[in-house]
Amino acid sequence: MSDFTSDFWAWYVGAITVISVLACAVLLYASSTAQVVKDGQPDTTGHTWDEDLSEWNNPLPRWWMWMFYITIVFGLAYVVLYPGLGNYAGVLGWTSTGQFDDEQKQAAVQYGPMFDKYLQQDIVKVAADPEARAIGQRLFLNNCAQCHGSDAGGGKGFPNLRDNDWLYGGDPETIKASITNGRNGVMPPLGGAMGGDDGVKDVANYVLSLSGRTHDELRAARGKSKFSTICAACHGPDGKGNKALGSPNLTDDIWLYGGSESAIMETINKGRGANMVAAGVSMMPAHKDVLGEAKIHVLAAYVYSLSQPDKK
Ligand code: HEC
Ligand code: HEC
Repeated sequence: MSDFTSDFWAWYVGAITVISVLACAVLLYASSTAQVVKDGQPDTTGHTWDEDLSEWNNPLPRWWMWMFYITIVFGLAYVVLYPGLGNYAGVLGWTSTGQFDDEQKQAAVQYGPMFDKYLQQDIVKVAADPEARAIGQRLFLNNCAQCHGSDAGGGKGFPNLRDNDWLYGGDPETIKASITNGRNGVMPPLGGAMGGDDGVKDVANYVLSLSGRTHDELRAARGKSKFSTICAACHGPDGKGNKALGSPNLTDDIWLYGGSESAIMETINKGRGANMVAAGVSMMPAHKDVLGEAKIHVLAAYVYSLSQPDKK
């Protein structure tokens, strides 16, 4: 529960807190009993303005002082009741995670039946229900928009989910599987296998030719055989991709990382996603534990609806 690495710091923080509060009380008491009159003369701070306007050293007004005492009592009561002193848990046993769990449970009781109702229905049917789509959109904004954009239009490295061009497939069950288990399509760095920059440029020009982009014929012709021996294993002999691996279709002129010669060369040289996956970071994280099946069902319906022109 606690983030302290040793008991010392728990005591250190606790002691400083208690001593500071008590010191405030002592200071307050001392100043409230300060003498107003010294040797028959009013005690002044020694400051004088406008010739004879002197500042008297009077105690604070009573009501003001009592407010301070009340805050001190409040502060002490707070650290007895709640976890405020080092590792001490507080007599109420309150924790932020406990409160979060309670709120989650309440939400599950309140909204669970609604999600369960949708879960019984086919995703295509849920996608046709405007209310379900509105719920799906809210879930999307909270859980997916940071990567796919609030309109699901994607960005560099993050697929557009509205264009009906799919890495893994756009049928309802595949979309649901993408969200449930996450996706990690990795393209390894292949610059070395292409025999250096010149070879990379040749293959890149062949890739450009696949979608009818401007390219160097000679280089493309040279790159074709390299493509067939190495790239075709994942992107297919015709470059149309492989949905089982998430390797993109290279013939449709829709680009995840960019379709310029330099962007394609970068993809071949550095690979895509390999560093992240090697570091244990998911490109598209699995959501089954975070959201649960019923919410994912509604989300899948929302995402599915985005690329169905008649159901938008
Ligand atoms: C941390 C960033 C991130 C988050 C958060 C995220 N995604 Fe993704 N998503 C990705 C990336 C990156 C890919 C592509 C993975 C790949 O290339 O293998 C992807 C792929 C997908 C795909 C497959 C697309 C295709 O063309 O087949 C779907 C569907 C999808 N995401 C939906 C969602 C939904 C719904 C959510 C919210 C629950 C979500 N994503 C949250 C980054 C993210
Ligand atoms: C081991 C399988 C594999 C091999 C081999 C492979 N790729 Fe890929 N490639 C992928 C995957 C998977 C992606 C998508 C990466 C992602 O989703 O982040 C990809 C992405 C790309 C992209 C980016 C497409 C875009 O839309 O921006 C290009 C270009 C590309 N590959 C070209 C090639 C070329 C050229 C070769 C051969 C030199 C090659 N690939 C070899 C799996 C592979």
